[in-house]
Amino acid sequence: MKNILITGGAGYIGSHTAVELIKAGYRPIIIDDLSNSQEKVLERLEEITGMKIPFYLGDCADRSLLDQIAKDHKLSGVIHFAAFKAVGESTQKPLKYYKNNVGSLVALLEFMEAHSILDLVFSSSCTVYGQPDTLPVTEDTPRKEAESPYGNTKKVCEDILVDLIKSKSDLKIISLRYFNPIGAHPSGKIGELPSGVPNNLVPFVTQTAAGIREKLTVFGDDYYTPDGSCVRDFIHVMDLADAHVKALSFLENKNTNFYDVFNVGTGNGNTVLEVIHTFEEVNDLKLNYEIGPRRPGDVVKIWADTTKINQVLGWYPKNSLADSLRDSWNWEKKLNE
Ligand code: NAD
Ligand code: WQD
Repeated sequence: MKNILITGGAGYIGSHTAVELIKAGYRPIIIDDLSNSQEKVLERLEEITGMKIPFYLGDCADRSLLDQIAKDHKLSGVIHFAAFKAVGESTQKPLKYYKNNVGSLVALLEFMEAHSILDLVFSSSCTVYGQPDTLPVTEDTPRKEAESPYGNTKKVCEDILVDLIKSKSDLKIISLRYFNPIGAHPSGKIGELPSGVPNNLVPFVTQTAAGIREKLTVFGDDYYTPDGSCVRDFIHVMDLADAHVKALSFLENKNTNFYDVFNVGTGNGNTVLEVIHTFEEVNDLKLNYEIGPRRPGDVVKIWADTTKINQVLGWYPKNSLADSLRDSWNWEKKLNE
């Protein structure tokens, strides 16, 4: 059984990926400092998978801890999720974001080279495209001026990976540019756990439906889109998790010194109002919402061209928007039980 180190594996996307890795016959090993997650996720993962996952509490930039993990387990690859992701906070505390997001990647790459651990999947983001001039976006769509220091950390990290491969490093690396991950494991045992008031749409929707928030504000309905609200490509987190498994197994069959980038989305754009109405329909409830002003800095519309990941990795999403919103609500309900 191959051991895969998952940095940030107690977090939203990492925890779902751990489930999919186990299903595919890998053994995940998690390192997480719990700065944005909770230790009980580990118990939940055990309940879902029937497997106890080795867990290391700490910073994935801590080389002595990484060396200890490599001593305890022969690692064949790494999936690097660990990062800070609050866009607003990153504009207030840019150094916190550069230090963690860029610093942890550099530390991890040094560690991988030192131990000849060659395969890496890196969490990038559609944020690197900013507001693209043409839609849908392919991997060749030019990256834009980042909307935030957070977005810029993802661009810088991608650039570091490109430079490393140019330097003839033996590493084999895939960056996955995620679009908007939503949904939860169908069991409702793991899901997204935003701390404080959610910034993202779907956690705000589910918390409003649960009565934790009084009402949802739709940030603008006067954009040049089918119903005036913004358009995003919402991808079920289990499908996103599966993309990591496909990326890893693809890397295993590659020769050394390899880098590529893939979009991970559904290939469809949905408006914010479509999300609300689909959520109401699939869960048979009414959501308290109002139309409010535009949110400064919002991208108006973006969705992925997924031809490359479909053809090269053989990855296709299995879940619809309705499936995702049903699973998001199932998770939120169970949280409040
Ligand atoms: P998350 O906050 O739920 O998970 C990240 C995990 O990393 C958390 O458990 C946190 O405690 C941990 N962590 C942070 N810094 C660490 C460090 N230095 N050492 C060890 N652990 C650390 O976030 P997520 O939504 O699961 O995102 C995972 C990755 O995907 C991030 O890199 C994020 O930038 C990227 N991403 C997320 C989205 C999204 O909308 N959720 C979209 C695009 C890209
Ligand atoms: C989606 C749409 C809002 C909340 C963020 C990050 C980006 C990337 C993905 C990580 C927008 C609208 C939201 C609300 C609303 N993350 N909305 N009312 O804007 O695509 O991007 O997540 O890499 O970097 O910036 O996601 O969920 O915040 O918003 O109307 O209360 O929902 O205006 O149109 P976004 P989001």
